[in-house]
Amino acid sequence: MKRISPDGRAVVVTGASTGLGRECALHLDRLGFQVFAGVRRDDDGRALEAAAAGGLRALPLDVTDEDSVRDAVKTVNGDRLWGLVNNAGICVPAPLECLSPDRLREQLEVNVVGAVAVTRAFLPLVRHARGRVVNISSGLGRVASPYLGAYAASQFAKEAISDALRRELRPFGVCVSVVEPGAILTPIWTKVAEQGADVLDAMEPAVGNLYRRSFLDFLTANDKRARSSRTTTRDCAAVVAHALLATRPKIRYQVGLDARLGSLLARLLPDTVIDRAFAKAVVR
Ligand SMILES: NC(=O)c1ccc[n+]([C@@H]2O[C@H](COP(=O)([O-])OP(=O)(O)OC[C@H]3O[C@@H](n4cnc5c(N)ncnc54)[C@H](OP(=O)(O)O)[C@@H]3O)[C@@H](O)[C@H]2O)c1
Repeated sequence: MKRISPDGRAVVVTGASTGLGRECALHLDRLGFQVFAGVRRDDDGRALEAAAAGGLRALPLDVTDEDSVRDAVKTVNGDRLWGLVNNAGICVPAPLECLSPDRLREQLEVNVVGAVAVTRAFLPLVRHARGRVVNISSGLGRVASPYLGAYAASQFAKEAISDALRRELRPFGVCVSVVEPGAILTPIWTKVAEQGADVLDAMEPAVGNLYRRSFLDFLTANDKRARSSRTTTRDCAAVVAHALLATRPKIRYQVGLDARLGSLLARLLPDTVIDRAFAKAVVR
């Protein structure tokens, strides 16, 4: 298949300190892109630069901080940017009855508002290059799992924003792709387990009696799913590279068998059937 050459093309990857973002940044660097890797801590930036093969540069960037976003655009300091990979994200687990408005805001602030703020800020450079926006969503951007309602809401929103953006940017020759990974073992799963434990601790006794056992089972199953997944961060990085380099990138990419199957079933099965499948998995 015909491919675009990465040589000399600049890309920004948000949330590159760990997990999928880190692997993507290093992979794109090895391919020959000029990579700006978004990090929130200097140490993470130094570690990334040390691990890189080419000219990767750490880019201080907190997607929820408007000044930080503005400074990041200045640091990139070019008139064109080939690719923006919106990867930064968090996952807030909780039964919705136990989810505080602040935690919901935090979830949406990072995954949705932050991604849009960063996209807006870099768009003049991407438009000038007639380049690419790649949004990392999730298999949970199609099917909302119980206890991950806030996270699924953020990923459904990312899917919708990607659709609107793709249609808005088409006249300018900018392609927008969504990457939907299934379970891939990264630090996000440890963070989910830790936050889940905090949610369990904070449950009021009356509510705790309703959800404790089932939520605990969910956390255990979640952890097991991530640990047994055969999909790797490298698989995801290769897909992101395809979205940046294919002459005709796909609108949606699923990464991993679970993501492909989930996407297919979400399209084919009625909600009542999906509800029954979740009801079997959620023990009361
Ligand atoms: N792993 C999976 O199974 C999976 C599946 C589907 C989708 N995803 C999606 O893939 C993306 C990456 O997840 P991951 O698994 O690689 O998780 P991860 O290892 O926890 O990485 C998350 C990254 O996001 C950054 N981040 C968090 N809040 C930020 C903020 N306010 N500003 C800038 N960066 C911020 C983190 O930076 P710090 O280190 O500074 O916190 C970190 O670099 C997420 O959007 C996630 O929803 C992951």
